[in-house]
Amino acid sequence: MNVTVFGTGYVGLVQGAILADVGHHVVCVDVDAEKIQQLSQGHIPIYEPGLESLVRENYAAGRLEFTTDAEAGVKHGQVQFIAVGTPPDEDGSADLKYVLSVAQTIAEYMQCEQIIIDKSTVPVGTADKVRAKVAEVLAKRNREDLNFDVVSNPEFLKEGSAVADCQKPDRIIIGTENEASVEVMRELYAPFNRNHDKVIVMDVRSAELTKYAANCMLATKISFMNEIANLSELLGADIEMVRQGIGSDPRIGYHFIYPGVGYGGSCFPKDVQALIRTAGDIDFDAKLLKAVEARNQEQKTTLFKKIHRHFEGQLEGKTFALWGLSFKPNTDDMREAPSRVLMEALWQAGAKVQAYDPEAMEEAQRIYGTRDDLALCGTKEAVLKGADALVIVTEWQSFRAPNFDLIKSQLSQPTLFDGRNMFQPARMRKKGFTYYSVGRNG
Ligand code: UGA
Repeated sequence: MNVTVFGTGYVGLVQGAILADVGHHVVCVDVDAEKIQQLSQGHIPIYEPGLESLVRENYAAGRLEFTTDAEAGVKHGQVQFIAVGTPPDEDGSADLKYVLSVAQTIAEYMQCEQIIIDKSTVPVGTADKVRAKVAEVLAKRNREDLNFDVVSNPEFLKEGSAVADCQKPDRIIIGTENEASVEVMRELYAPFNRNHDKVIVMDVRSAELTKYAANCMLATKISFMNEIANLSELLGADIEMVRQGIGSDPRIGYHFIYPGVGYGGSCFPKDVQALIRTAGDIDFDAKLLKAVEARNQEQKTTLFKKIHRHFEGQLEGKTFALWGLSFKPNTDDMREAPSRVLMEALWQAGAKVQAYDPEAMEEAQRIYGTRDDLALCGTKEAVLKGADALVIVTEWQSFRAPNFDLIKSQLSQPTLFDGRNMFQPARMRKKGFTYYSVGRNG
């Protein structure tokens, strides 16, 4: 099938690449000429395992093309994906200007019947807005004869495992009431829908809300666990035992109940805020989601509070070694990352930071530039030298079995703040560390 994808961010690029990989002919369109140029040369602007080779192979095979030529893009596709960003507005609601501008472009150039697919995470009601925009432009062109449908088809990929998530989706949500569109969507996704039927057909609004409900549910699980972790600490319990204890109930399950330093990234914070806002617009008070958000904001300060308490507020002139800058492992993404809240609080208190991350060093440099109180070091060992404590913010695999003797010898005091509960408190004490983690007395 001929497919056009507008937007070459995480969602659009991965979607385009995996569709090309199964044999569809995909044209990816972006307004950013430099990005298109880079992609055409096989350079991927983001770190995502497996994506670069997938893009290169399919580009070389001629199944995946990149262009800034929107007109050619619209002409190519039997279906048109809208996969552009929906950044939060000042008030937290999703800004639809990019989505609607793509809708306008599609309407300006379409010459035959089209299926327009909303892949971006968009508030309930967006498909109606896209439909209205397309109809308006077609009317101006005197082409009301051109039929089109707007389908909601949300994406559920996770950064760091985006390719695998897209290739093996848990579900394929198709939001439309148009039978013909359902058939085309089924054909498009047939290669990913083999062993059992993963397609769930529903009305557009339910599909749009499904995406938010999924992310908000996951964010709720995390905030719930962080709340219990904080309580656990005060009550003298061990959250890791509690986690295992409750996870063994299949109705709760082991996934997404890891306490830590709060959720970050481009999705959970944005989507929780957007749904609160959507609810507010119709005078519905989303009390639970507001609490989820508030707990998360507070959780991001938990490491700083522990550090502040340990050093009795004397942070001026201290140096902290930081492992992990990205909001989670296997990505270079620092959007809404807890590391940023921590670093900024430490700087505010007059401390210095020596930081290392396996992938996010360039991103940190881009965000913070050169400053006296931040040293971005090339290895996880280099950050330790002369630091007053080590702080682990992101649970990268390569941090799991460190050389503790080396850590001890490099730090001025053997003090470790672990925001991801990577180690056993008793074992750390035995090794001579003053060890702090989340939701445990240790
Ligand atoms: C999330 C969802 O997991 C995807 O299903 C969804 O498609 C995506 O948003 C999106 O809307 O595009 P992502 O933001 O890539 O994916 O990251 P996650 O792996 O979900 O992690 C989010 C945050 O939660 C991270 O900061 C992570 O450290 C934190 N987390 C996760 C916890 O604190 N505890 C957990 O048990 C799990």
